[in-house]
Amino acid sequence: MRSHYCGELNQSLIGQQVELVGWVKRSRDLGGVIFLDLRDREGIIQVVYDPDLEEAFALATTLRAEFCVSIKGLVRARPEGQINKDMKTGEVEVLGQELVIINRSEPLPLTLDNHQNNSEEQRLKYRYLDLRRPEMTERLIFRSKVTGFVRRFLEDNGFLDIETPILTKATPEGARDYLVPSRTHKGKFFALPQSPQLFKQLLMMSGMDRYYQIVRCFRDEDLRADRQPEFTQIDIETSFMTSTQVMAKTEELVRNLFKDMLNVDLGDFPTMTYADAMRRFGSDKPDLRNPLELTDVADLLKDVEFKVFSAPANDPKGRVAVLCVPGGAKLSRKNIDDYGKYVGIYGAKGLAWMKVNDIDAGMDGLQSPILKFLNETVVTELLARCNAKSGDIILFGADTNSVVTDAMGALRLKIGEDLGLTTKGWKPLWVVDFPMFEEVEGGLHAIHHPFTAPVNLTPEELEANPVAAISDAYDMVLNGCELGGGSVRIHNAPMQASVFRILGISDEEAQEKFGFLLEALKFGTPPHAGLAFGLDRLIMLMTGASSIRDVMAFPKTTTAACPLTNAPGFANTAQLTELNIASLIVDEKEQEQQD
Ligand code: AMO
Ligand code: AMP
Repeated sequence: MRSHYCGELNQSLIGQQVELVGWVKRSRDLGGVIFLDLRDREGIIQVVYDPDLEEAFALATTLRAEFCVSIKGLVRARPEGQINKDMKTGEVEVLGQELVIINRSEPLPLTLDNHQNNSEEQRLKYRYLDLRRPEMTERLIFRSKVTGFVRRFLEDNGFLDIETPILTKATPEGARDYLVPSRTHKGKFFALPQSPQLFKQLLMMSGMDRYYQIVRCFRDEDLRADRQPEFTQIDIETSFMTSTQVMAKTEELVRNLFKDMLNVDLGDFPTMTYADAMRRFGSDKPDLRNPLELTDVADLLKDVEFKVFSAPANDPKGRVAVLCVPGGAKLSRKNIDDYGKYVGIYGAKGLAWMKVNDIDAGMDGLQSPILKFLNETVVTELLARCNAKSGDIILFGADTNSVVTDAMGALRLKIGEDLGLTTKGWKPLWVVDFPMFEEVEGGLHAIHHPFTAPVNLTPEELEANPVAAISDAYDMVLNGCELGGGSVRIHNAPMQASVFRILGISDEEAQEKFGFLLEALKFGTPPHAGLAFGLDRLIMLMTGASSIRDVMAFPKTTTAACPLTNAPGFANTAQLTELNIASLIVDEKEQEQQD
């Protein structure tokens, strides 16, 4: 049916006969000549029908947007003055000779040109049409090229592509599970995997040595621009490799990928400890394109009269940190109040500020509602510590460590964007030395997952002081986005049992949930380590999309539904009975039919 894709035509084909198929982007009758923009997956070409070809011309006059057609014609150079430099095929056009309408189209329920006018709901309901937009098509083509590259790289490096079950048991990655009822085992449920974590570890115990899978993961969690209930990981596991070696190999993968696909040289990724990232940037995934940094000042403010500062400054769990924003003295009261409200989202109770109007004028050069609480020595040291200059504003966060870190970290990002301080380009890094556990209400929680090994500790040492333990884990961060994360795994049963105990999982519960893992650890388990990338996030960053929805063919809405298929749907009573399930919510339609 086709000799070329529309988007492939160029000057080298001038004089050649071509057969094309595609969709009518638009068709215009310009003074007796019909100009048809024909679109397929690879691009758009202009096709011209002259009236002397009576039959084809007559048919061409009936064309409407999104008809599916096939054409035959001759490639020719566009006349001088009609060359379109913005179009890939803009130097040529096709003189149409034949035209067949394969299928007509009704007017579309959404516009493809001014897609900003389409609601997200509409776009997802008619996703197959939304995907006709070249921007969307290009992203899916790009995604396919990326997975192709990743597969080639990993295969060349000795990784085996091995599939793991989708109907399985819960894997603790911190989200809720999607459950699937079993028909054959009454009252029992499978869980869809939050990741293949345990299976990939078992594959190392099988001696597979290097595993990868481009794999769907399922997490029932609150959705955001970079989270979907089902998403794809590039999942990797290795035996006999240290964390440094896994980081080097996966960094090489990402570096080569950016070079190949975008001609971008990411260079060597710097490494930063979790503690430094939280202290300097208020985030475990710092966006290093943003030049602002937090400065700790609690030691300077221990004795000031202002309780808002001195109380957290003297509390071991408190933090007082400032953000010195270059050029920020021009912010209005309203701007500052708005930022105060913004940090409120993160629990901050206020946002004290100090404008540095003239750094050489001492206290007189400053403007701040809290100046009265601070003496000159404190102020001088504070200005020096955050390297303040005339025209800057200093913003204060004082509260518990976690509130200040979260609030000031978020404020740093917002102000960086608002004031145009965040640069373009690419800033990758590794974040390492995460604590093993964080304190949550009612106990401890694993920061990575419970299979992550601590650095240099025996099980006894770990249990004696779990909060101080550092894990052998690493996250790859790019432009403030957590692209991937991984760790060295626990490869002996006593250490695994200790971690379960620290997490408050009783021996009985550990046996019930992870008995198979504890047992497997007894049979000559090799040391192993791995990592998983979020493929959707990677593609989002590489294509400049603003949400991972825009790089997935059929994503879900923010309430985890699919407007296209209307999933999830009710199961009918017969299905539920077969599964031994009673639903508390009645399907009203089925009820009506029965009544
Ligand atoms: P983790 O839970 O950090 O690690 O996930 C790895 C990467 O997957 C991506 N990701 C998501 N992407 C889209 N939507 C989501 N809901 C979502 N959740 C996570 C992120 C993240 O960095 N088994 C471990 C990996 C390992 O230890 O090897 C794991 O799943 O980019
Ligand atoms: P107040 O004395 O409560 O009116 O606060 C004086 C200034 O300190 C105001 O600018 C408040 O926004 C600010 N402020 C109050 N609480 C905090 C806090 N926890 N951290 C930083 N600034 C605060």
